[in-house]
Order: sequence, then structure tokens, then C-alpha cells
Amino acid sequence: MSLLNIRIYPDSVLTTPAEPVDVVDDGIRKTLEDIAETMYAGSGIGLAAPQVGISLRLMTVDVPSGEDDDEGSGLLYMINPRIVEKAGSVVFSEGCLSFPGLEIDVARSAGVKVEYTDMEGLPAFIEADGLLAICLQHEIDHLDGIVFVDRLGTVRRKLALREFNKLKQRAAEG
Ligand code: NI
Repeated sequence: MSLLNIRIYPDSVLTTPAEPVDVVDDGIRKTLEDIAETMYAGSGIGLAAPQVGISLRLMTVDVPSGEDDDEGSGLLYMINPRIVEKAGSVVFSEGCLSFPGLEIDVARSAGVKVEYTDMEGLPAFIEADGLLAICLQHEIDHLDGIVFVDRLGTVRRKLALREFNKLKQRAAEG
């Protein structure tokens, strides 16, 4: 396995819709394993292929156990995931490995059902709520070329991008 380079906004790959995967072969499996390793190295709970410069509909998710409810998702390798059902709404403070340091409140569906193809090329699905539902929506957005600031209204989006530019400037200055 190898660590991949995480692309930082406004890298154009992050705003380009990713292509579906036709055949699940060893190359795809290796890519997913590399994405997972890169996700863990960055202490992320989800990472989508466009975030490492690969414009394919691949992503990994590993949501830890919550304080009260769920036991954690375990590592999920997902190929061509799509949301087939959603319900309710929730606001949660999100971060993104492509926006280091930025945290913003984003409104999303509270529960989702996602269909995808697994590492063996077989159809699979997952029903999720809580943090896992939020994470799945955030990562699937990446596959559509949508980043989390795009889920804000015009004014809040502008403020969030201004804050992110300041964070980047500060990091560059050391
Ligand atoms: Ni993200």
C-alpha cells in the first residue's frame, strides 16, 4: 500500500464529477486500499478518490463508534455509491481533508440508504443515520464534484472560503 497526495481546494479535480467504475479489478482494489491508508494517515473518517487526484467513483469510510448509539461502521470500501433513500435533516459541524483546518456547520439528511458495489464486484447496500449518514453524504458529494462549502448559502459560502484562505495563508507563513 502507499500513501497518496491529498488534493487541497481549489484543485480542479475536486470540482469535477468523477467517472463510474466499470470493472472491479486488482487495480481498483489497490487504489481503494491506498485511499483507506491515506484516510487513516490523515485521521479522516472518509476519503473519496477525487481527493487524491483520481476522478473515479471510489471512496472509503470508517466512522468510529459514537458516545451513545452506534458501534461504528468499520472500514467500508465503496464503488459507485449512490443515495437511494433519504429522510429527515440534521446540522453537523464538518471538516474535510481537502480543507485543512476549516470546520463549518452543514445541513444534510439525517438518514440515508446507499447502494454500492463492494470489493468483490457484488451489489451491496447500507442504511445509516448519525455520523455515518453525514459522512456518506459528504463523500458521495465529492464524487459529484461538490465540496462541503457548496452546501452553504451564498453568503456563508463566501465567508467560509475567506476563512479557509486565511488558514492557508497562515499555514504558508508557518
Ligand atoms: Ni471532504
